Amino acid sequence: MTPTLSHSIPFFDYPSLFTSDEEEILSIVRDVGRRGAFILQQDLARFEQNLARYLDARHALGVANATDGLHIALRAAGIGRGDEVIFSSHTMVATAAAIHFAGAIPVPVECGPDHLIDAASAGEAITSRTRAILPTQLNGRTADMDALGALAAKHGLVIVEDAAQALGSRYKGRAAGTFGAAAAISFFPAKVLGCLGDGGAVIANNDDIHDRMLQLRDHGRRSDGEIVSWGLNSRLDNLQAAILDSRLARYPAVVERRRTVARLYRKGLEALEEVTLPPGPDGDAYHFDIYQNYEIEAERRDELKAHLGTFGIGTLVQWGGKAVHQWDSLGFTQRLPYTEKLFKRLLLLPLNMSLSDSDIEQICGAIRAFYRK
Ligand SMILES: Cc1ncc(COP(=O)(O)O)c(C=O)c1O
Repeated sequence: MTPTLSHSIPFFDYPSLFTSDEEEILSIVRDVGRRGAFILQQDLARFEQNLARYLDARHALGVANATDGLHIALRAAGIGRGDEVIFSSHTMVATAAAIHFAGAIPVPVECGPDHLIDAASAGEAITSRTRAILPTQLNGRTADMDALGALAAKHGLVIVEDAAQALGSRYKGRAAGTFGAAAAISFFPAKVLGCLGDGGAVIANNDDIHDRMLQLRDHGRRSDGEIVSWGLNSRLDNLQAAILDSRLARYPAVVERRRTVARLYRKGLEALEEVTLPPGPDGDAYHFDIYQNYEIEAERRDELKAHLGTFGIGTLVQWGGKAVHQWDSLGFTQRLPYTEKLFKRLLLLPLNMSLSDSDIEQICGAIRAFYRK
């Protein structure tokens, strides 16, 4: 039987990011506005402290977005002109752009079956010019940081993490963003912790790297006003920080709900041979995943997407359907067969706080109906 849906299910419901806590947001706007507290004020400092505490990190700093954050993190970690930086091609172009704008050379490598950087492929890409590995903690999951840490130690490389999608994700109990010299997190509205516009943070445990990031986000300016290097204007707005701080208090419950949705998807889809699901939330004692995305691999992906669309179910092919090295305009020459094959099969199913259990059942029912046809 073909399922019929009582209502459409958009991939993402942007207005709900405001309407779900509208009164609280308006009262924060009034409070911050009446204090005239817009740039580098106490609400930002409080959020930074709470964020660092949540991650068990020594320092967190609000920045304008994670793309700037990665650029700042790389420069603060000493990466610059001519250095090669290895990253997984299954990431946003922002990861490679940050490497490029830090003056370094982005070197794309394969991802593995969990869609995160493949340590063996990273190892094969190391040359005498390699200075850093930049794993993307993709879809809310942390990479195998033991393997990457061993590789980095063996070759004397720095690790900088792209934790844009992974706030609160853990590997062996340790939070994404705290494994390397520095990391960046994104608060883009659709992120699990999203603000009402662009926003991000950088993380570090080392005091010197933190000091450099503090200067780099504010025109290269030291606390005594001296300009000590070229810097960016990349400060997280105090108003956004105040909103994020109120949301951070509720964040663990949000993560739990997303893990529940992942369980429901698994229950509804695991019998299908045509679909490969992301690792389940209860499958592995090493990983705690926050499910920024629910990225499946699907046979006849484009047909499935169109089929779901006819039921009003929104889905998304991440990054416009191309891995970073497949954008000819950027001049990459690498061939990455595993990643290229994978990119014909990837599909994001809806995963957001507006979804009910019955929505997930309906999505799973529509997918099962497609493969039964
Ligand atoms: C993996 C990854 N890296 C980097 C970014 C860039 O983050 P932002 O939009 O905050 O600059 C994103 C954002 O969506 C992302 O998903």
